[in-house]
Order: sequence, then structure tokens, then C-alpha cells
Amino acid sequence: MNDVIKQYIVEKEPYYHSVTDEVALYEAAYSVRMPMMLKGPTGCGKTRFVEYMAWKLQKPLITVACNEDMTASDLVGRFLLDANGTRWQDGPLALAARYGAICYLDEVVEARQDTTVVIHPLTDNRRVLPLEKKGELINAHPDFQLVISYNPGYQSLMKDLKQSTKQRFGALDFNYPSHDIETEIVTHEGGVSADIADKLVSIAERARNLKGHGLDEGISTRMLVYGASLIAKGVDPKDACRVTLVRPITDDPDMRDALDAAVTTFF
Ligand SMILES: Nc1ncnc2c1ncn2[C@@H]1O[C@H](COP(=O)(O)OP(=O)(O)OP(=O)(O)O)[C@@H](O)[C@H]1O
Ligand SMILES: [Mg+2]
Repeated sequence: MNDVIKQYIVEKEPYYHSVTDEVALYEAAYSVRMPMMLKGPTGCGKTRFVEYMAWKLQKPLITVACNEDMTASDLVGRFLLDANGTRWQDGPLALAARYGAICYLDEVVEARQDTTVVIHPLTDNRRVLPLEKKGELINAHPDFQLVISYNPGYQSLMKDLKQSTKQRFGALDFNYPSHDIETEIVTHEGGVSADIADKLVSIAERARNLKGHGLDEGISTRMLVYGASLIAKGVDPKDACRVTLVRPITDDPDMRDALDAAVTTFF
């Protein structure tokens, strides 16, 4: 394997607890190199899942956090000036296509549409990436796969993927895991007892019912892991919950009271 790409190999098995049949479905999708879209709320395991799959398939993983200032050049590459003149530097997408990595574009809707379209020729049967400035056409390496993540519900009409982009991907829905699985995850990741993790998950479940009734988003698995890690450090559970579960998701005093009350039911 090329040295440039070696550094992107996931060496240690990432801890990932499967939720349904997503591992088998992803493996099947990878076997035909189908571009995949992971949909789901923040903090529910999408990034961890791709890291785990890259490890399982033994493929390098190149992750790009997308934002609205990102240009096509940030993805495909650009000429740099150095002492000897100009030198081409592959962007992350070009690297992945050239050397055969899984390229994960996180929060792809944040990118402008003129940036997003550079992935089109890579995501249909051409599997090519034109480097227009350099005058090169990369034929994607057989191992290359494109994966994007997407938080449904956060988009405005102005900011959504075009149908012509969406329809190039298979999609897997992610959500918060079931009670028992989430308890295991929080126990493992947060370093607390199953009993504490169980209570944290129960608090989150109550809060998730308030989504759309004053809360924009539920308490995520990520937040529960944060809460657990403070408790594991000896912080009083009520304080830990206030800092990690309640304060971050709402500024509304009534909603904070309602969530604090849920916390005191369990701790
Ligand atoms: N199924 C799971 N197995 C193991 N850990 C999980 C799982 N789901 C969530 N986690 C834990 O939750 C944390 C947040 O998950 P992750 O970073 O993958 O979220 P995400 O869906 O990528 O969120 P975002 O959309 O904000 O990027 C992880 O660091 C991990 O500790
Ligand atoms: Mg993520």
C-alpha cells in the first residue's frame, strides 16, 4: 500500500455495537462499491460506524468535515507554491480515489451545491474524478468508496442535497439505539456501571419525547457518554446530568426545569 495512504488505516478495532442489520447491509453495499449515505440525528453513532466498517474491511478511511466555506478545490486539490515553483497537492477526495480509500464526507449538506457536484462523476458508473486545473482524470481505484452523512430535519429548503445527488447513494437510517443496547454503549464508553448507564438512558428517553414539543433535538448517545464520563470521575450524577444533558440542549428555563425534574426522578 502507498505510504501516503497508509496513515489512514484504522489500526485498532473501534468499539461499535451494531443496532440492527447495518453492518451486513454496509458490507454488501461496499462489495459493489455503492456510494452510501448515513442518515440520522447528531451523536447517534454514524461516524463511529464508518470507522468500524473501515477497520472491518481493512480499508483506509479519509474523513472530511464539510462546511459552507469549502470549495471544490478543498476536496479535489490545488497547486501550491513552494521554493521550486508550483506543485500539485491532491485534496482528500483525490487521495481517496487515487489510492483506494473510503472517503467520508461528514455533514455534506453544509457544503455549497457547486462543491457537492464534484462527487457526481465518482458516484455513477464512470467512477472518475476530473482534476480540471491539473488536466488529469483519475480513474477511481477499485477499493474506493464514497460515504456521506446527513442529518435529516436540519435542512432548510435552501440547504438540502439535490435529488441528482441524493439518488446516487444507497442510504442507511441511524437512530438512537434501543434501551438495552444504548445502556451497553454508555457503560462501555463512559466507564460507569450498567445501573448508572440504565438511568442515563432512561433520562434521555424522557427528553426524546419532548422533541418537537419545545426541544429541537433529543439527548444523544454522545451526550450520555459525556455524562457517564463525568460520573465515572466522581462528579455527583445530578451535576453531571445538568452539565452534559440539560444545559447544552436548551436555554428555555421551563424546559430546563422539566429536564432537571426528569434527572431527579432517577438520581
Ligand atoms: N452503536 C454505537 N456503538 C458504539 N458507540 C456508539 C454507538 N452509537 C453511539 N456511540 C457513542 O456515541 C458517540 C457519538 O457517536 P458519533 O460520533 O458516531 O455520532 P454521529 O452520528 O457521527 O454524530 P454527528 O452527526 O454529530 O457527527 C461515539 O463517540 C460513541 O461513544
Ligand atoms: Mg459524526
